[in-house]
Amino acid sequence: MTGFVPRPANAVVGEARPHEAASLHVTGRALYTDDVAARTPGLLHAHPVQAPHAHARITRLDPAPAYDVPGVVRVLTAADVPGVNDAGTKHDEPLFPDEVMFHGHAVAWVLADDLESARLGALAVEVDYEPLPSIIELTDAIARESFQGARPRLERGDVDAGFAASSHLFEGEIEFAGQEHFYLETHASLASIDDDGQVFVQCSTQHPTETQEIVAHVLGLASHQVTVQCLRMGGGFGGKEMQPHGFAAIAALGARLTGRPVRVRLTRQQDMTMSGKRHGFHATWKVGFDDGGRLQALEATLTSDGGWSLDLSEPVLSRALCHVDNAYWIPHIAVDGRIARTHKTSQTAFRGFGGPQGMLVIEDILGRCAPALGIAADELRRRNFYADDQPTPYGQPVRNAARLDRAWQQVLDTSDFAQRRADIERHNAQNPHSKRGLAITPVKFGISFNFTSFNQGGALVHVYKDGSVLINHGGTEMGQGLHTKMLQVAATALGLPIDRVRLAPTRTDKVPNTSATAASSGADLNGAAVKDACEQILARLAPVRERLGADVAWPDLVRQAYFDRIQLWAAGFYRTEGLSWDVSTMTGSPFKYFAYGVAAAEVEVDGFAGAYRVTRVDIVHDVGDSLSPLVDIGQIEGGFVQGVGWLTLEDLRWDSSDGPSRGRLATQSASTYKLPSLSEMPADLRVALLEHAAEDDAAVYGSKAVGEPPLMLAFAVREALREAVGAFGPDGITVELASPATPEAVYWAIQAAKGQG
Ligand code: MTE
Ligand code: MOS
Repeated sequence: MTGFVPRPANAVVGEARPHEAASLHVTGRALYTDDVAARTPGLLHAHPVQAPHAHARITRLDPAPAYDVPGVVRVLTAADVPGVNDAGTKHDEPLFPDEVMFHGHAVAWVLADDLESARLGALAVEVDYEPLPSIIELTDAIARESFQGARPRLERGDVDAGFAASSHLFEGEIEFAGQEHFYLETHASLASIDDDGQVFVQCSTQHPTETQEIVAHVLGLASHQVTVQCLRMGGGFGGKEMQPHGFAAIAALGARLTGRPVRVRLTRQQDMTMSGKRHGFHATWKVGFDDGGRLQALEATLTSDGGWSLDLSEPVLSRALCHVDNAYWIPHIAVDGRIARTHKTSQTAFRGFGGPQGMLVIEDILGRCAPALGIAADELRRRNFYADDQPTPYGQPVRNAARLDRAWQQVLDTSDFAQRRADIERHNAQNPHSKRGLAITPVKFGISFNFTSFNQGGALVHVYKDGSVLINHGGTEMGQGLHTKMLQVAATALGLPIDRVRLAPTRTDKVPNTSATAASSGADLNGAAVKDACEQILARLAPVRERLGADVAWPDLVRQAYFDRIQLWAAGFYRTEGLSWDVSTMTGSPFKYFAYGVAAAEVEVDGFAGAYRVTRVDIVHDVGDSLSPLVDIGQIEGGFVQGVGWLTLEDLRWDSSDGPSRGRLATQSASTYKLPSLSEMPADLRVALLEHAAEDDAAVYGSKAVGEPPLMLAFAVREALREAVGAFGPDGITVELASPATPEAVYWAIQAAKGQG
């Protein structure tokens, strides 16, 4: 371990600064991919031909009638693909399918001078389908053993011995929903070809390198003939980690065939019906506790709903299995994972990447079992925390677990937990039709990509002769504030005020072979690479500085170095050391460190309607020594609220009737898919960073990743709802709560609780 390194004096990291583009965002001047399209002359617009079947064979596809529509320039079909007709990395996602695999699957694309002509052209394309049997529901897929991909097993100890040693055994089952990303900016790509045949794709993508590779495969080109640029995204949340590639390939193919720039920009409805979402899961489990409520053994089977193709389902499932322990020591454990194949969109990464789904299982178990054990849920959770250096089921010691104890205590203290619990008991005793609940839940989340190779970052830093600095790095900006942090890192590393540093858009011809900006590790990986580049430059400047004197002004130093023929730019690189992961045995130490957080939530539930309000939330989150506290607090608030949406509001419904709309996504716009809005915000939301948070395992300048972990703080709301529902029934009853715990679901849970009286 590197040991804790104090920050330089006057460090720009640690300053509370607004997002670097905040004023552009709020004034509408920030440029997104499709804003560039709007300014592109000669532009063609693309529109998909979407299939109206969940599963069908295409028996005839005739583009000819589309050409009768004025403005239509070209219809793209499988016959046009010069390279590989596939948009995935697993080669199971034909870009132009001959078999429709989900309702809304694009079978062809129409290019026209304007979007309306493209839409009319798409309607004119004639397609005959032979409908085939389809699987829509996850439980149906399980019953029919419709699975895809690997079936990992995470195992430690001997669960049977653990059950034998347990004095309390419980079994259960739960199925819970996925989640639509609902980034404000839908999928967008803009492709053009220069006079040399070079392909330039601007794309709203978290993974420019992989977009570049897929575009190259589809076009039959080498990577050096394709450049991908991402200006910024209006949100990605994991939905733009792998899903943009096919749309980028359509734009690039169209540009290549017509010689004109091509724009693909999905409407909200197209985005929702065509792109992947968070995986819903089904789980069965059996758990054993000793007399003190200590977990002895857990046996579970987790089945994710992968949709029609693999996409990122395998790594998402791995992360789910690696987070089924959350913050708890489970001596004996055996968890099987499976990925169902259903006729739905191909489900994908979403903030937490399977971690939230794994953690939901154990939090649900603890919430359900606590009353039966006669132990308060908060006490049951606390009793089962990892002690420092106890190993996870996959064998990684949980270093610095005591940080979680500190965060827990900080929340108990600052939220006045004990006093409010007493107040709530009084309220509940006096009010038969209104009940309150208060719950506190922990988060432990592993930071790094499970797949060790992805844990690398790159940067390019230029110092110009006038002393101004331009940085490029391999990460993408999606609102999370990565660019803000990178400016702060560069300014700190070079010892300059931040206004001397500018950041240029992410491009594959500047920094190659990048990893997705994902797994919350954008700042860790790219920050360390930026710092490395800056330090190389400083090392070259050191002899000049020595000659000119320590207090030489930066522009003079740089000018002299230039005349001395010293290289004033550098490529930086970083790889996370000490990681290991064996996917075949599901063992190793895949994470550099764990991010920790704790939330306490209070809710009030109306017994007549199941309606509820989140009245107060207290959060303490561990970001180490924050690089950018305002940005980090924004990430914690945003992640938490997005988690509340997943667990309590957002209800994806696919039509599973046998009628003609079987497989159709019924919730395909904001009118039917309920998102958190201002009225669902906790009336009182208090977010604090863990105090005295310097940690020797942390990443750049002692900071820790923040992007995903706060989403899982939202379990506190779900558990508070469970507690409030339980208060409608007799003491000590077990409450089963659907997820999402919509007011309707809460209503039915209240009926069940009352029925136990
Ligand atoms: N915050 C905003 N505003 N928009 C986003 O799309 N994506 C989240 C998180 N925070 C996201 C966000 C996800 S899924 C991840 S993995 C991280 O940001 C990625 O960025 P980072 O690695 O720089 O934290
Ligand atoms: Mo985030 S789900 O790792 O893009």
